Amino acid sequence: MNGRRSSARLITLVIAVALTGALGYAFSNVRQGYEPRQPIAFSHKRMAGVPVMQTNDRGEQVNVGGFGIPCLYCHTMPYKGRHATLPSTAVCMNCHTNVGLNREWVLKMKAFWDRGEPIPWVKVHDLADFVYFDHSAHLNAKNADGTSKLPLVDAAGQPMVACQNCHGKVQEMDIVSVQQPFNMQWCLDCHRKPEIRASTDCITCHR
Ligand code: HEC
Ligand code: HEC
Ligand code: HEC
Ligand code: HEC
Ligand code: HEC
Repeated sequence: MNGRRSSARLITLVIAVALTGALGYAFSNVRQGYEPRQPIAFSHKRMAGVPVMQTNDRGEQVNVGGFGIPCLYCHTMPYKGRHATLPSTAVCMNCHTNVGLNREWVLKMKAFWDRGEPIPWVKVHDLADFVYFDHSAHLNAKNADGTSKLPLVDAAGQPMVACQNCHGKVQEMDIVSVQQPFNMQWCLDCHRKPEIRASTDCITCHR
């Protein structure tokens, strides 16, 4: 890391923002609730949610809930790298070469695959380029006793995946939406918590 170049960039950033008077934006809440439509009606609730078994009119057991696929089956990198990564269509086709081929959206997905085109997913979370964020630094952070720094139980005391701290209950969403402000104040509020005590130096996030 070139510290001098980073601080020069940070100073330029601060001046640029002061000139445009845009600082209020850093503390604003322009993202929470953003819920873009996707090219395929992919549902986390259906793919990653809890199963709900029902007996249909032919007396068969059918799952009308979710298939409980773990987050990391599709988002393979969050413990290892900066980015969580989206799955390639090949991951979907592990199952969908023969599952759900009577479903409209599954056929649309297969059409992308057959044409050799990636599915043009719309980004839901997208921080400005001057912010440094790293999934692995968050997910691997441990307390002195080796337990996860990010809570693994929700407000009601129920176990949860670490992702939920920032992304909310994705496994209950048909369409992913931004659940938290994702602005500077939000990052700092968590970093300042006594049980978290992560760095609040400018250079931590603006390098
Ligand atoms: C079967 C594969 C699959 C599983 C399992 C899965 N996801 Fe996803 N996820 C996707 C795909 C495909 C997208 C892009 C489309 C969308 O946003 O809905 C996505 C998008 C997301 C996004 C938004 C990405 C962005 O653009 O900002 C988040 C956050 C996310 N997933 C979190 C989770 C979490 C948390 C879990 C586990 C509870 C999970 N996912 C399980 C496939 C999956
Ligand atoms: C582990 C197996 C598995 C993987 C991996 C998987 N799916 Fe599915 N998916 C299923 C099953 C099972 C169904 C239910 C099919 C049915 O109801 O006929 C389904 C249903 C669907 C549906 C139709 C939902 C509905 O009810 O109409 C869509 C769309 C879909 N999947 C998209 C995807 C995408 C996109 C990916 C990759 C990001 C993916 N799936 C990965 C197993 C999987
Ligand atoms: C400390 C908060 C935090 C936690 C915990 C977290 N994320 Fe994220 N996630 C973010 C931020 C911030 C972004 C936006 C990054 C950007 O735009 O540069 C993001 C973006 C994403 C994306 C979009 C692709 C990417 O990497 O930019 C996916 C997918 C995602 N997260 C999935 C997950 C999954 C799965 C987990 C749990 C294993 C998880 N996240 C845990 C904050 C978090
Ligand atoms: C839910 C709490 C939480 C939120 C929200 C959060 N962080 Fe963190 N952050 C942490 C924890 C925990 C650590 C790790 C501290 C440690 O290593 O002990 C950390 C560490 C970091 C680090 C240091 C990584 C390294 O390389 O050492 C960066 C950079 C960072 N966070 C950026 C961000 C940004 C940017 C945001 C907002 C978009 C954000 N964080 C939101 C809890 C959070
Ligand atoms: C924990 C991470 C974190 C730390 C520490 C941090 N910032 Fe930020 N900063 C952010 C995020 C996130 C944004 C919003 C980026 C966006 O809008 O996409 C931001 C935005 C900004 C902006 C641009 C405001 C705008 O209008 O978009 C400036 C200037 C800034 N930060 C300066 C600083 C200074 C100076 C410090 C040290 C006192 C600092 N930051 C510390 C995460 C951080």
